[in-house]
Amino acid sequence: MKKISLVFRIWRQKSQLSKGQFVEYTLKDLSTNLSLLEALDKLNEELILNGDRPINFDHDCREGICGSCGFLVNGQPHGPKDATTICQLYLRNFKDHTTLTLEPLQTKTFPVIQDLVVDRSSLDRLIMSGGFCSDDVGKAPDANFFKVNQTDAFSSFQTATCIGCGACIASCRNASASLFVAAKLAHLGQLPQGQLLRSKRASQMKHQMLSEGFGSCSNNLDCEAACPKEISANWISWMNREDD
Ligand code: SF4
Ligand code: FES
Repeated sequence: MKKISLVFRIWRQKSQLSKGQFVEYTLKDLSTNLSLLEALDKLNEELILNGDRPINFDHDCREGICGSCGFLVNGQPHGPKDATTICQLYLRNFKDHTTLTLEPLQTKTFPVIQDLVVDRSSLDRLIMSGGFCSDDVGKAPDANFFKVNQTDAFSSFQTATCIGCGACIASCRNASASLFVAAKLAHLGQLPQGQLLRSKRASQMKHQMLSEGFGSCSNNLDCEAACPKEISANWISWMNREDD
């Protein structure tokens, strides 16, 4: 088993109101089979044993499907590896004695809560603004009741893979939520079940983007590069044609 030593330069901030700073930690003899989050777990065990405050970071599934992890590794949301969430980033991707700078996703729409954890509730409000169905629809219909052709099903699924991590927003110089909202709209808007509220959903979500303070898309495509699910920025053009 290969072992490496890494220097972690981590943003430490006790609360939203306190001033933060980078603190350096060196971890030796780390198995390259560890994920970056597992290395942080190891560091936290040491901090706790020494009576220090552990580093706060978000995570849940650790399988790349929940979207809760996510911070900057050397300035890049989810780190240097394409199409990879932070929980799926393994130490074998780094050279021995590398310094890794870990800091929270940086945008005014995601205020820091503590250390690497940010408040992404603006994304929840965006989703809620899309509305929900409160009709009594009776029993669950058969899975094949609505015919969906293979092309539409595949295309819809490609956008449904958005995990709501917010990397697209944090990577955008305008903090635009366009890729996230486009993915959500395209996911539902390509299926027969999503047609009833399609236009209303688009206009409500676009309006919410503005009121939350997200910026406009200026086609830099950093969102697409940062997206761990490789969602294409072409969906933003698709979104712009919705609700017209
Ligand atoms: S579009 Fe990609 S980067 Fe943006 S929230 Fe969804 S999965 Fe994350
Ligand atoms: S912890 Fe769920 S996507 Fe990373």
